Amino acid sequence: MSPAVANWHDRDVSDRSRALPRRSCLSTPGANERFLAKAPTVVADMTFLDLEDSVAPSEKVAARAKVVDAVRNLSWDDRVLCVRVNAWDTQWTYGDVIDVVGKAGERLDEVMLPKVQSAAEVVALDLLLTQVERNSGLPEGHIGIEAQIETARGLINVDEICAASPRLETIIFGPADFAASVEMPVLTGGVAIPEYPGDHFHYVFSRILMAGRANGLQVIDGPYLYVRDLDGLRDFAQRTRVLGYDGKWALTPDQAKVLNEVYSPTQEQFDRAWDILEAYRTATEEQQTGAVMFGDEMIDEASRKIALKFVTRGERAGLTRSS
Ligand code: GLV
Ligand code: MG
Repeated sequence: MSPAVANWHDRDVSDRSRALPRRSCLSTPGANERFLAKAPTVVADMTFLDLEDSVAPSEKVAARAKVVDAVRNLSWDDRVLCVRVNAWDTQWTYGDVIDVVGKAGERLDEVMLPKVQSAAEVVALDLLLTQVERNSGLPEGHIGIEAQIETARGLINVDEICAASPRLETIIFGPADFAASVEMPVLTGGVAIPEYPGDHFHYVFSRILMAGRANGLQVIDGPYLYVRDLDGLRDFAQRTRVLGYDGKWALTPDQAKVLNEVYSPTQEQFDRAWDILEAYRTATEEQQTGAVMFGDEMIDEASRKIALKFVTRGERAGLTRSS
């Protein structure tokens, strides 16, 4: 067992993954042993082993044992570890959960549920997880849920979906399935559409962000399918980064590297955030004033809140304050 995993056992397991960073969320096809073996060596904040759309129907059932073996026996570090099961409109969901969560052991942090259309689908997964946890000796509430919004109906119901279970840790946008659901005339989902005067997903990104934040969830953007175009990825990821998203899916190690940079504050932002916190504390505690000048800028309690978010994210990304 690596020191990182030993350390993980000492913590309160049910809350382990909730506040961990998810700047890069690496997708790994669950039927492919070569990709599975490589996944722990790829630097990413979160890894999910996929039983859904990257696995052929003929391989769905056999992939479960491969995924269990990967969770139990590969040498994972401290990252968030997740399995994506098949959606409730298939015949595989309950078997995925019983077989994989029931056998994977405590290192599995979360289950990702794709194509969520209603709060009831999240509740159904929550109830099933509770039974599987009891039967397999896992602490109750150990497994978190990540929910994907990738249909028109899912987006319409996103408020209720985000409030449906205390197990929910993230809400994720799935651009490829979403483009199909709303019949966008594109053949590649999740990339820029130059013909559109603006960002064709702006409403969707904002809608999901509000629902997620109102319920204390991390909010994650989905895949960018031109895997060789790292500049395009960096550019496209900036859209959700500036809105406030926590991270984005990575399909390759190179994509993960770019995303870890894009979704981290810069050192300059991190240091400035610390300076704002200090200036504000001095103003409120020593000078008994609620607003104070910080360089050319007036800062107050709202500035403190903004700065605190930068510090939290920076610390999650491993930054330390410059001396
Ligand atoms: C991801 O699952 C997507 O459909 O974009
Ligand atoms: Mg999808």
